[in-house]
Amino acid sequence: MRHTLWARLAFVLARVTTFAIDGVEPRHVCVEVDIRPGLPAFTIVGLGDAAVRESRERIRSAILNSGFEFPQRRITANLAPASLRKAGPGFDAAMALAVLAASGQLAADALSHVAVFGELSLSGELRESAGALAVAEGASRCGLKKLVVPAARAREASLVDGIQVLGVSTLRMAVDAVTGRRLPLPPAELRESIAIAEPDLADVRGHTVPLLAVEIAAAGGHNLLLEGPPGTGKTMLARRLPSILPPLTRAEAIEVTRIHSVAGLHHDGLVRGRPFRAPHHTISAAGLVGGGSTPRPGEATLAHLGVLFMDELSEFQRTAVEALRQPLEDGRVSIVRGQHALIFPTRFMLVAATNPCPCGYAGVADRCTCGESDLRRHQRRISGPLLDRMDLLVPVQRPSDAELRAGPVTDSAAGRVRVAQARERQQRRLAGTAARSNGEMDAGTIQARIRLDERGQAALGDAYLAGMLSARGRHRVVRVAQTIADLDGRDTITDVDVLLALNFRQRAGGEEVAAA
Ligand SMILES: Nc1ncnc2c1ncn2[C@@H]1O[C@H](COP(=O)(O)OP(=O)(O)OP(=O)(O)O)[C@@H](O)[C@H]1O
Ligand SMILES: [Mg+2]
Repeated sequence: MRHTLWARLAFVLARVTTFAIDGVEPRHVCVEVDIRPGLPAFTIVGLGDAAVRESRERIRSAILNSGFEFPQRRITANLAPASLRKAGPGFDAAMALAVLAASGQLAADALSHVAVFGELSLSGELRESAGALAVAEGASRCGLKKLVVPAARAREASLVDGIQVLGVSTLRMAVDAVTGRRLPLPPAELRESIAIAEPDLADVRGHTVPLLAVEIAAAGGHNLLLEGPPGTGKTMLARRLPSILPPLTRAEAIEVTRIHSVAGLHHDGLVRGRPFRAPHHTISAAGLVGGGSTPRPGEATLAHLGVLFMDELSEFQRTAVEALRQPLEDGRVSIVRGQHALIFPTRFMLVAATNPCPCGYAGVADRCTCGESDLRRHQRRISGPLLDRMDLLVPVQRPSDAELRAGPVTDSAAGRVRVAQARERQQRRLAGTAARSNGEMDAGTIQARIRLDERGQAALGDAYLAGMLSARGRHRVVRVAQTIADLDGRDTITDVDVLLALNFRQRAGGEEVAAA
C-alpha cells in the first residue's frame, strides 16, 4: 500500500486543514507534520499559546490509548500560517490525525478533503470544543466537503449547509470516519424549538409611559434608561423588552450562535431568541467589552443583536462604563494584541436602570435621606459617557393602588405586532442605507430620508433655540420622533412626535440633558 511505502522513506510529511478562531471569525490553518529519523522528540511550531504547546502530551497519550503507535522519531508539527496566533486546544485532533498519517497508520490522502477540529483527552476522546460553528463556516468557505468535530458539537456545526459533518467521540472514530471505514450517525435533526415561556409585558401594572418607552425603544432600536425608586418595576420592564423584539432572521441566528459557540456558551443547536445579557455591576472592563491575554468576547459581544441590560447603572465601575463608548459608537470592538487587532461585533440595544439617588427615594416626598454631596456624587457616576448615548430617559414612579388592582395596560403579543409593523416601515424607508433601524441612522441618512412637517420643524427649532438641545441631541430627538411616527403608521414627523421625543429627554426632577 502506498502509505506504508511512504512510511519507509527517510521523512514523511502529512497535511490536514483546521481553523483558528480570530475574534469570532474562522481562519484557515494548515497542520503539517514531518517525521524523520533522529532522537525521539515532538515539537510544535507556529505561534501557538500554552494550550497548543501542551497538546503534545495530550496527543501522545491519546494516540497510545487509542491503540495506535506513537512514532519514536523526530516529529515536527507546524501550524501555518506562522504569522497567525493560535490559541486553545482545538488543534489537538488535527495534529493527532496528521501524526497518524505521517507515520503510515492512516492513508495520507484520507485527510486531503477534510477539516478536523477538536480537543483530545488523554484517553483519546474528543472533548467538546468551543467554536465548532465558526469552524464549519470556515470549512464551507474553503470548499471542503467534510468536517470532523466532537460529537457534542456536531448539531451546531451542521447548521452550515453543504458540508458533511462527522461528529465523533473518540480519536479511533475520527480515523474510521476520515477513511470511510465507519461513518458516524449524522447528528439528530433539530427538534422544533420549544417555546420557552418568556416573561410577558402583561405582568406589569400601571406604567403607561414607561411601557410606551419600552415599545419605542424596541421599535427603533434606541437605548433606554429607566430611573426610579426601588421596587417600582424597572428590572421587571427591562427583562420584558426582548419579548417584543422581532425574531432573529436565520442569518442573524447563525451569527449569534457562532459568537456564543466561540465564547463556550452551550446551546443545543441554533439560538432562537434575541440575546438578553444582564452582567452584574462588579464586572470589569475586560468582562464587559472583551479582553484577556487570549482575548475572549465580552458581555457586549454576547449581547450582539439583542439587549445589554445594565441594572443598577450607578454601581458599575467607571472604567467598565467608559470602555463601552467604542462598542456603542461603532457596533464593534477591536482588541489589540501585539501586531494584531481582534474584532468582536457589538450591535446591541443598551438598557440601563438606576435609582435616582443613593438611598433611592429622591423625588418621593420626605423619604429621601441623601445630602447634597451624595446626590452630586450619584449624578457624577451615571452622567457622562453612557447618559450621553441614551435616547430615552424614563422616570419610573410607584404605580398607584388602583393601577396595581387594574388589569394590564398591554401585553407582549400586541406589542410585538406594533413593533414589527414599525420596523417594516423603517426598513422600507432606509433601504439602501447602512441603517437597519431609526436608532442606527447617521446624520447623512437623517438628512436624506427623514421628513418633518412644518410644525414638526418649528417644534424642533424652538427646542434648539431655547438651548435645550445640542446638534447631536437634535439628531437623537429626530430618531426617536421618527420611531414614534412609525408606531403611529406615519412616515412624516409632526410636532406631536417631536414634543413626545423631547419629553423623553427630560430626567426626573425636570433637568434637561442639554449636553447630549
Ligand atoms: N408596576 C408593577 N406591576 C406589577 N408588579 C410590580 C410592578 N412594580 C413592581 N412590581 C413587583 O415588584 C417586584 C420588584 O420589581 P423590580 O425588581 O422590577 O423593581 P426595581 O424597580 O428594579 O427595584 P430596584 O431599584 O430595587 O432594583 C417585581 O418582581 C414585581 O413583582
Ligand atoms: Mg432592579
